[in-house]
Amino acid sequence: MTGTNPTPALYPVPDAFASKARVGSRAAYDQLVAAAEADYAGYWAQHARELLAWNKPFTKTLDESQAPFFKWFEDGELNASYNCLDRHVEAGLGDKVAIIFESDDGIVSKVTYKELLSRVSRLANVLKAQGVKKGDRVVLYLPMSVDGVVAMQACARIGATHSVVFGGFSAQSLRDRIEDAGAVLVITADEQKRGGKNLPLKAIVDEAISLGGCDSVKQMLVVRRTGGSVPMVAGRDAWLDELTASASDVCAPEWVSAEHPLFLLYTSGSTGKPKGVQHSTGGYLVHATLTTQWTFDLRPDDVFWCTADIGWVTGHTYVAYGPLSCGGTQVVFEGVPTYPDSARFWRMIQAHKVSIFYTAPTAIRALIKAAESNAEVHPKQFDLSSLRLLGTVGEPINPAAWEWYHREIGAGKCPIVDTFWQTETGGHMITPLPGAHALTPGSCTLPFPGIDAAVVDETGKEVPWGQGGVLVVRKPWPSMIRTIWGDPERFKKSYYPADFGGKYYLAGDGAIRDAETGYFTITGRIDDVLNVSGHRMGTMEIESALVSHPLVAEAAVVGRPDDLTGEAICAFVVLKRPRPTGDEAKKLAAELRNHVGHEIGPIAKPKDIRFGDNLPKTRSGKIMRRLLRVIAKGDAVTQDTSTLENPAILDQLAQSN
Ligand code: WTA
Repeated sequence: MTGTNPTPALYPVPDAFASKARVGSRAAYDQLVAAAEADYAGYWAQHARELLAWNKPFTKTLDESQAPFFKWFEDGELNASYNCLDRHVEAGLGDKVAIIFESDDGIVSKVTYKELLSRVSRLANVLKAQGVKKGDRVVLYLPMSVDGVVAMQACARIGATHSVVFGGFSAQSLRDRIEDAGAVLVITADEQKRGGKNLPLKAIVDEAISLGGCDSVKQMLVVRRTGGSVPMVAGRDAWLDELTASASDVCAPEWVSAEHPLFLLYTSGSTGKPKGVQHSTGGYLVHATLTTQWTFDLRPDDVFWCTADIGWVTGHTYVAYGPLSCGGTQVVFEGVPTYPDSARFWRMIQAHKVSIFYTAPTAIRALIKAAESNAEVHPKQFDLSSLRLLGTVGEPINPAAWEWYHREIGAGKCPIVDTFWQTETGGHMITPLPGAHALTPGSCTLPFPGIDAAVVDETGKEVPWGQGGVLVVRKPWPSMIRTIWGDPERFKKSYYPADFGGKYYLAGDGAIRDAETGYFTITGRIDDVLNVSGHRMGTMEIESALVSHPLVAEAAVVGRPDDLTGEAICAFVVLKRPRPTGDEAKKLAAELRNHVGHEIGPIAKPKDIRFGDNLPKTRSGKIMRRLLRVIAKGDAVTQDTSTLENPAILDQLAQSN
């Protein structure tokens, strides 16, 4: 938890930046906030009209009649792919580079807007020929690639709803998502290349389908990435390049209602089952476009690089949609920051003259560590002078990492936008606008104009600045989650719970505003969701994976602070046999770790596994996670344990790592 800090150093906006910025002063920001307050619907309607091309203009901005199922611009019609591609080609930007792609093994290719439109149209025609219709769900299980962006855009073009599953998720996780979405088609690749290794993709989709429950899937299209041999099922599987080669590169966009679901993206919640977050087309694209313009101050000559994978929301909004909707040039990178060495990012910034760089604090922390131990991968070896703006996302950034990023990567002259948002919010919620806000390391500063974020107590009442509370958003906004796919009740319960009067969107994070500046600092999740390396993981999901192992009787998972990954996963496990010790405990821990990797994916593997005869429980049988968190951290338990059924277990667990 972050207590009240003495007001930390403020970094003023550099004049050189402010003078050219789209929102170039605090006064300009305040004016935008005031405009949104004075006429909320009018403010958003104006941006929606100005930023996007509508085939049919909307007449009504916000429909609150079925709150909290809000609708934006509903009678308007548009197409996301038209907005990201055709309109730029029509405006004469066809030869502008849309994507600079660099593969894991360092091969660079450039794709212009004209070429991207042609590739998207071909694939869209292939999807149509395969029988995919407007509203059908298509699952994408792909490497970070131009093909991935093309596949998302092709779905959008024909009104199919894509659901991208991160290529690191296991067959079981993929199966669950395919089944829940009821996907009719899966697009995958033979393999993916990451960090110099070829990793299977198609084989995992095959395994997922063999697990059952995926009868909705009729076809599988396979991108040829590595040329690795994969078995093809006759009548179901086809090589994507063979089909697109003979497809027409003209495909009229399918005009859809602004409320038409553009995509589902599964994310972790407090209960075991991942939730399919459903996003709209119009409202989503408005905010994706506006935040790309204002938060990143994107201009026509910028080279923008967001390092997120398309498997996460950041890769949706700030790779697949935002930069393209703005007609920008962006880098898409297949690999990892540590291959072939930990200077990969810096070398790529230099090579592609990246001007705006957006990454996760975890990556920064890992690269700081690498640079400190090996001068050859230190950023000072590289010419990073093309940079003018930096950003972070996904987890809190510790002030020391912020200062390093600012000094070593940004040469002390690039503002850093610490952007707070979520899969559910579709785009930035609380973030500096780089020409408007002086910065405090570790604070995401102030709400994006038009976002009514507040810190409240349990009754929904705003707390004074300087006092911690729960982060809520008081008004609906265009890019908000529309529902949880197939589970509207869960949507209501998770985000508009009755205890806050059912009126405010509950983000699931705690926050505190600085007593003087009013700047927000996010203090972390208030539910059973962990944030490991900027990836959201539900503790219950990991517990279910552990107890699905035949030897495990019971498991409790908590997070503990970690210098590198932000939080680390710590599991307390009770076996169906006596508690193992020594080498046996080590062996079993390794086995369980792999088991979780197999059930969910490598990102969910617990860092620590401790075995106990039992878990600390109240007399009514409730596991005391609060105490487990203290033990996981290595602290002494000072809390009252008199309500525990079995207090002696605490000592055993504290010693058993
Ligand atoms: C956390 C990622 C602090 C937060 C875009 C949120 C952050 C969760 C920040 C959403 C930030 C995201 N500072 N914490 N700048 N950005 N978070 O859905 O806990 O993968 O609720 O979306 O990440 O994670 P998600």
